[in-house]
Amino acid sequence: MGKHVGLWVVALVLGACSGDSAEMAANAKPGQSTYNEACISCHNPGISGAPRLGDTDAWQARIAKGRQALVNSTINGLNSMPAKGMCWRCSNEDLGNAVDYILEQSGVSSGL
Ligand code: HEC
Repeated sequence: MGKHVGLWVVALVLGACSGDSAEMAANAKPGQSTYNEACISCHNPGISGAPRLGDTDAWQARIAKGRQALVNSTINGLNSMPAKGMCWRCSNEDLGNAVDYILEQSGVSSGL
């Protein structure tokens, strides 16, 4: 009847969890450290057509499709924009915070 199998599955699932967000707790702007780590190399200089941090016009044009669309592009990638900005340990929330940081620094309202 295989009645022992369920316990093993539970043990494996619990073992797979490990948090790494505690080290980022002392951070007033949650998206800033992610940006500085993962996004700055392309979005400060504007590599490969990346819209630059602080470029209000460029980001105004992007936000027209909505914040969630921008977060989805960040998670999934878009043309030369790599998925997750290559930050493989970043959660979707981290990436969303980084998008909010970019918009805020560029003087664009995310509509939230
Ligand atoms: C390797 C370079 C590179 C890195 C690293 C990178 N980006 Fe990008 N990003 C781009 C490029 C290039 C585009 C323009 C893509 C296009 O519109 O064709 C872009 C576009 C975007 C857009 C607009 C997407 C849209 O739908 O219009 C957002 C939002 C964004 N990046 C966020 C981020 C965030 C957040 C990070 C860090 C987690 C990041 N990017 C890291 C190159 C990069």
